[in-house]
Amino acid sequence: MPTFETSLVINICKAVLICGLTLYVATIIFLNKCPSNHLFSSSKCITSFPNNNSQSNTSNHVVQISISVPTNINHLVFGLLGSEEAWHHRKPYIESWWRPNITKGYLLLDVPPQGDDLLPWSLNSPPYRVSDDVSPLVNETNHVDPRVLRMVHGIMEVVREAHEGVRWVVMGDDDSIFFVDNMVDILAQYDHTQYYYFGGHSEFIMANYFFSFHQAFGGAGIILSYPLARAFANNVISCLKRYAYLRSADRTTMSCTADIGVNLSPLRGSHQIDLRGDLSGFLSSHPKSLLVSLHHFDTIDPIFPTMDRAQSGYHLLNAAKFDQSRMLQQTICYKRSNNWTFSISWGYSANIYENIMPRSWIQRPIETFKPWGNITLPPHYNFDTRNFSWDPCETPHMYFFQSIEITPRNKILTKYIRAWPRGIGVCLYPGSYPAEYVNEIHVYSPTTKRLKINRCECCDVIHKAGSFKAAVRYRECKLDEIIA
Ligand SMILES: *[C@@H]1O[C@H](CO)[C@@H](O)[C@H](O)[C@H]1NC(C)=O
Ligand SMILES: *[C@@H]1O[C@H](CO)[C@@H](O)[C@H](O)[C@H]1NC(C)=O
Ligand SMILES: *[C@@H]1O[C@H](CO)[C@@H](O)[C@H](O)[C@H]1NC(C)=O
Ligand SMILES: *[C@@H]1O[C@H](CO)[C@@H](O)[C@H](O)[C@H]1NC(C)=O
Ligand SMILES: *[C@@H]1O[C@H](CO)[C@@H](O)[C@H](O)[C@H]1NC(C)=O
Ligand SMILES: *[C@@H]1O[C@H](CO)[C@@H](O)[C@H](O)[C@H]1NC(C)=O
Ligand SMILES: *[C@@H]1O[C@H](CO)[C@@H](O)[C@H](O)[C@H]1NC(C)=O
Repeated sequence: MPTFETSLVINICKAVLICGLTLYVATIIFLNKCPSNHLFSSSKCITSFPNNNSQSNTSNHVVQISISVPTNINHLVFGLLGSEEAWHHRKPYIESWWRPNITKGYLLLDVPPQGDDLLPWSLNSPPYRVSDDVSPLVNETNHVDPRVLRMVHGIMEVVREAHEGVRWVVMGDDDSIFFVDNMVDILAQYDHTQYYYFGGHSEFIMANYFFSFHQAFGGAGIILSYPLARAFANNVISCLKRYAYLRSADRTTMSCTADIGVNLSPLRGSHQIDLRGDLSGFLSSHPKSLLVSLHHFDTIDPIFPTMDRAQSGYHLLNAAKFDQSRMLQQTICYKRSNNWTFSISWGYSANIYENIMPRSWIQRPIETFKPWGNITLPPHYNFDTRNFSWDPCETPHMYFFQSIEITPRNKILTKYIRAWPRGIGVCLYPGSYPAEYVNEIHVYSPTTKRLKINRCECCDVIHKAGSFKAAVRYRECKLDEIIA
């Protein structure tokens, strides 16, 4: 159990001591053999020390040197901020990705849960805690917004209960879906004994302007390395006093983190989803970054057209259980003999265009969605988009993820089924062919993780003229292969 009384001075002393020892140990490791069985650090070894809190109360203690294991799911603690009222319908969003007895952490509720639907407490939910009564603190700090104070204070409450050995503290909202394996693979690349503050921007460009371009939009996840989270927790009262006038918990968190000397490291796969309506265009052209989170699941249309929001969450996670490294990763290839372009967003959707289009164009999301705010003048988004169009040469045939299995030949087969007849006629360019009769796309991908995270995979389309099924087989790109 961490102690908040631990002074900053001692933490600094410890940090200095650990830095020195890390260098020493790193030297030893490089002279020996690198334990390099994990995804991203085959060329470097990250060394660190177990978080042994019994050592943190004395700086002249003999520190036992041990090489820690790569970061895994046990090293994360989640603090999910919720309210009793919303939990009745948000519970499925969290239960879709929460792994009982594996993921660690808490749901922080404003008041104790009530009702037959919540009690007895579901074993598939995170255990809950009722947030501290912050009213005396509101008084003491003169804070303008008790809800903001409760959320910021929640970071301290999670740190206070964090288990031994924790390396990363992940705060998030109760209407977010987290892709925990991807989060672990990202965090494993960083030295958790240092100070890190990870999170994502808002897609709605004005939200970054209204709040800050340097803050993690917290619903999608604020990830603090444990030493930073502890420093934050130790200073939370003075922080709340300094920023008592702020009506944003995320901005307060950013401000206090900045005062500790740490700024945001943005994660491109962390999605605040400050968007409205039909997200299919956005989710079909995801950037080449590991998918970390999808927030605001409650305010967007269900992401699968035939399902409600809760079912959609579980359905997406059906794919994620097999392979998180490819989730929403866009792979593009062509059926040259038909002048068709295929674009797959793994685990979510597949598109056929009756036209050959370069990747540089297809990777811009089609604006099927609207910005969070009803601002009419652009710019709306912090990314490039394509206009939605009814032109049959521009508009894809849409297919959504239906099922997943491992084939006898040890490939992952994901099937995507046509969502609706496109109903806008065929592309009339010379040499274009209608794709209206293609109803299913079967995608074969490796059972191994996608390694070259900053490059696309390539694929081949297999389709017999007239068949209602098309197959897409993933493969490594050839040297200098151009996808256009
Ligand atoms: C923590 O330190 C104590 C005493 O120094 C030691 O007995 C214990 O094994 C350590 N725990 C870990 C996880 O290293
Ligand atoms: C330091 O930790 C040890 C055991 O880990 C405990 O017995 C002792 O009371 C602690 N000292 C202080 C000053 O907290
Ligand atoms: C989690 O652990 C508890 C206590 O060890 C056990 O009762 C419960 O069945 C476990 N839940 C699941 C889903 O495995
Ligand atoms: C707030 O502070 C005032 C005096 O500073 C005190 O009289 C009052 O009881 C406090 N209220 C709460 C809820 O603590
Ligand atoms: C924008 O939204 C606000 C509040 O939701 C509303 O009052 C206003 O009329 C809207 N403006 C437009 C142009 O739709
Ligand atoms: C997209 O649509 C808007 C408004 O309908 C228009 O002003 C803009 O020029 C279009 N952009 C492109 C690239 O066609
Ligand atoms: C593909 O389209 C181009 C341009 O419209 C055309 O020249 C070509 O013949 C078409 N290819 C086939 C196989 O029809």
